[in-house]
Amino acid sequence: MLNGPNLGILGRREPDVYGTQTLEEIAGAVAREVAEHGWEVRSVQRDCEGELIRAIQDSYDTVGAIVNPGALMIAGWSLRDALANYPRPWIEVHLSNVWARESFRHESVIAPLASGLIAGLGGFGYQLAARALAEVVHNRS
Ligand code: DQA
Repeated sequence: MLNGPNLGILGRREPDVYGTQTLEEIAGAVAREVAEHGWEVRSVQRDCEGELIRAIQDSYDTVGAIVNPGALMIAGWSLRDALANYPRPWIEVHLSNVWARESFRHESVIAPLASGLIAGLGGFGYQLAARALAEVVHNRS
């Protein structure tokens, strides 16, 4: 799980928009979801784009990824390039329905590279992404 800026304070960040679940709780739910595949969750959250890039470069050994880029969806070109070289499938997730919000949230520079995208379902979206990732990974191999 790779989470971008401002997602480390989930639970106390605009709860009306992002819900009350913490990132740790979401990661726990994802861990339970993927346990049946024998997978473990590596959960990384960084507020800086460079640190997210470094985390991607250090994660080529993972089976796949769930990525919430936060506001880097809008212009995170370096993040996009790092994901382009990530050798495994990944799913983009947004807690909120970005298309029901301000127009500056309507474009994602990373979305064209994702296997799929889930938005608007809160923390549950990460669980759905985990299920989808398992399908994609198993269909690839
Ligand atoms: C977000 C949506 C982004 O527009 C926003 O900048 C975030 C969170 C979401 O999960 O809904 O930080 O990615």
